[in-house]
Amino acid sequence: MIWTIFLLFQAVLLYVVLTHRSRLKSEPPLDKGVIPWLGHALEFGKDAAKFLNRMKLKHGDIFTVRAAGRYVTVLLDPHSYDTVINDTDSLDFGRYAQVLMERIFNLRLPHHQPSKEKAMMKKHFSGMNLSALNSTMNRHLQVLLKAEMPQNQKDWKEEGLFNFSYSLLFKAGYLTLFGGEKNNNSIDPSYVYNEYKKFDSLLTKIARGTLKPEEKRTAQNVRHKLWELLATAGLTEDSGLSPWLRSYRKLLQEEGADEETQRRAVLMQVWATQGNVGPAAFWLLGYLLTNPEALTAVKTEMEISDTSLLDTPVDTPVFDSALEETLRLTAAPFITREVVQEKTLQMANGQEYLLRKGDRVCLFPYSSPQMDPEIHHEPQIFKYDRFLNADGSVKKDFYKAGRRLKYYTMPWGAGANGCVGKRFAINTIRQFVYMLLTNYDLELCDPNAQMPEVNASRYGFGMLQPERDLPVRYKPRNAHQDF
Ligand code: HEM
Repeated sequence: MIWTIFLLFQAVLLYVVLTHRSRLKSEPPLDKGVIPWLGHALEFGKDAAKFLNRMKLKHGDIFTVRAAGRYVTVLLDPHSYDTVINDTDSLDFGRYAQVLMERIFNLRLPHHQPSKEKAMMKKHFSGMNLSALNSTMNRHLQVLLKAEMPQNQKDWKEEGLFNFSYSLLFKAGYLTLFGGEKNNNSIDPSYVYNEYKKFDSLLTKIARGTLKPEEKRTAQNVRHKLWELLATAGLTEDSGLSPWLRSYRKLLQEEGADEETQRRAVLMQVWATQGNVGPAAFWLLGYLLTNPEALTAVKTEMEISDTSLLDTPVDTPVFDSALEETLRLTAAPFITREVVQEKTLQMANGQEYLLRKGDRVCLFPYSSPQMDPEIHHEPQIFKYDRFLNADGSVKKDFYKAGRRLKYYTMPWGAGANGCVGKRFAINTIRQFVYMLLTNYDLELCDPNAQMPEVNASRYGFGMLQPERDLPVRYKPRNAHQDF
């Protein structure tokens, strides 16, 4: 017994000695939290925005926290973001992405060639290819919207706006990029959506490794089902309709990925391409419905432009500002890099800090610039024209500490690893909102309803999601309304 206690004591002592870390003068303020090893992991995971704001008040724009054995330096000064984004030598994107890929998708790509993959993605989501994708998306959106609507123009259909937007955009996106046509030979996209939603609801816990045993089983089952459903995506005759997925499959094959690995990689692409658009459209429609002035302004612009908004470029500054404002309030990704060689980080105010090899660096643009009251007046409030000048042109000048900002909102990331699908995503949301507002009646079930709170556990994972749904009702618009 005495020996056991002695050995245990020795082990704890050894652990403390080996993992002890104190701040060097040249390093950012260090906050390890009181719990050994775990550090701040629980508070971080529960509500990262709240936690990081607390740390910011305590330490300022840069600090290092311990979370689950890792040390993460958080930088919250947007004037200094480029020093992180542009340094691809000392700060690596791929390693942390690889950790998440393994944890969430059980995926390890052999001979992975990220730069080749990126170039291929860029090619497929720009120029003529983008126009083709936009028109395929338009077609699917029209068909799916029509199918969703009640037949009788006098009957309203009630539903939660989040589920309505997410499911419709997921299905349209899935058909456009993964599923070919909605016919007897293809898998029903509603079925894929239902499984995906289960997976999505567990995603943050999977990423953090905090699933309960029962949830672990569900996550494994759902992941297997999705792998099965995606087994032939991009390999059948239909795939001619999605040149991107065919190219992606080819690249995976060249890299030596077997069939099993390919399915897992395809599920990861479903997440990357479908996980953010639906939630973004939900927030935008929700803000418009709860802000009648904004809704009128967007509708008026759509009537004036009188186009299907299919041809790019389209000039819709009011819509663009409303979307930008929505994303400012609800896009909350972490931009994370791993320090692969010691680096001196130079802040815009001239201060220098040493970053240790093996640590991570994390930017959280949601805290600043997006919700920073010094940059955006009354940051909690939705103002559809925040990104418009008085003459109706696009507003791009925002300031912090008296200096104009390069990054005044950052929903798409930035630099070499910024979002490849940005233009496709914007086009999709614009088409969806345009179709809905011009051909259908859509209103809140309760005219005084407020926007739901956000699910705080999702900070750091791209678009936020609501804590509860927002009930709405809709029906086809009667062309000749009889009163
Ligand atoms: C509202 C919708 C979307 C938002 C807010 C969004 C946001 C982002 C952000 C913040 C990143 C960068 C992550 C980082 O730096 O760590 C990213 C990366 C990426 N996005 Fe999006 N995205 C959206 C829609 C899409 C769509 C529709 C596609 C494809 C069709 C797409 C494809 C990608 C890809 C492939 C990457 C990875 C880039 C890389 O590996 O370097 N995204 N997205």
